[in-house]
Amino acid sequence: MTGFTYKNGVLHADDIALSTIADKVGTPTYVYASSTIEQNYARLANALSPLGVRIAYALKANSNQAVIATLARLGAGGDIVSGGELTRAMAAGIAPDRIVFSGVGKTADEVAQALRAGIHQFNVESIPELDLIDRVAASVGIRANVALRVNPDVDAGTHAKITTGRKDNKFGIDLDDAAAAWTRAVSLPNLNPVGLAVHIGSQLIDLTPYRAAYRRLADLVRALRAQGHEVSRLDLGGGLGVGYRGETGPDVADYAALVREMVSDLGCSLMVEPGRYLVAEAGCVLSRVLFVKDGSARRFVILDAGMNDLLRPALYDSFHAVVPVKQAAPDAVIHPADIVGPVCETGDTFAKARELPPLEQGDLVAFLHAGAYGAVMGSTYNTRPLAAEVLVAGNKFELVRPRQTVEDLLSRERIPSWLSGGDQ
Ligand code: LLP
Repeated sequence: MTGFTYKNGVLHADDIALSTIADKVGTPTYVYASSTIEQNYARLANALSPLGVRIAYALKANSNQAVIATLARLGAGGDIVSGGELTRAMAAGIAPDRIVFSGVGKTADEVAQALRAGIHQFNVESIPELDLIDRVAASVGIRANVALRVNPDVDAGTHAKITTGRKDNKFGIDLDDAAAAWTRAVSLPNLNPVGLAVHIGSQLIDLTPYRAAYRRLADLVRALRAQGHEVSRLDLGGGLGVGYRGETGPDVADYAALVREMVSDLGCSLMVEPGRYLVAEAGCVLSRVLFVKDGSARRFVILDAGMNDLLRPALYDSFHAVVPVKQAAPDAVIHPADIVGPVCETGDTFAKARELPPLEQGDLVAFLHAGAYGAVMGSTYNTRPLAAEVLVAGNKFELVRPRQTVEDLLSRERIPSWLSGGDQ
């Protein structure tokens, strides 16, 4: 289910027609339906809270302040991967003691920022990182809670660019090295080793890889405890997928049952780090048809949204449904067309030979399931300002990121003195 439905023949986000948003804000624009974020959060929380599992929203999926604030209000913590995301999380109202810091490449400055803020824990991905956090913790005078993110060497069966839990991925500490890493963490005076973390990849539709990963994690907890270590927290990662092609995604009740079966007897406090599951369905990219070009081989529908606005199809060959904002007549002739953007790259292609009702110049379309890894992965390639973002709640909507302007872009750049004549 996405947050977008036809009412009176026009696609709506909650009670707002997308054509109204296009008139007021222009295109391309990201539109988010808060009701869908709320429903997704409630579904996951209802399944997991009986097990005491807390939800730390992975901000990387969509870090607009309005989206984070929506989730913060519902009680979500945050999973961050940079000092910037820490600032965003706190600005939107996530309490620092509900924040975990993941990522393979934390800098000393970011570690200091997080320690001073009083975050819940660092998920540490290497022994050199343990050493760094210990040093920074000493200089800041705050002991750091650390969990070891282990790499369980499980194939998540997802796209190669978003799988993270295999030995040849850069993420986590190899299972075989985890006991030595724990011993190292114990030996460092400014660290408090609290637990383990795992994240095997993103867009998991099948739950089987979780089972394998959690089994290995549970075995490791038992092995560490047998060596006399205290392991009190488990972070079970994110990765729950969504049905981009209308297929049914993983059932969160099944996921909860799996968590119960695999790890709940360990008596650890539990947390998960979902991103996509909470926000993907809640967002769309609203775009306008610039031209329809009938080439000799195929028809091209050229949009005002490009790969700089929605990168996923170009980067991962991802599928996003494209639907007309004005509902097609039931007897509309379906015609295959390539849906492309204006960027000067052949890769700026959203869909090939997509079966669509006829689209004409000026028509509005929406890319569905674009709430996760959409706006956050936008760029200004071809000097295309970042798209606007709008949050809808019932019959209200607000611009939550105004469209960037070319002046914004140029104001960040300088012509050096020796070129501008200021050097003489
Ligand atoms: N925790 C960690 C440590 C992660 O690396 C990620 C995602 C998550 C949680 C959240 O995963 P989710 O629940 O959203 O699957 N740009 C790609 C996805 C990259 C995911 C990176 N890590 C895409 O557009 O498909």
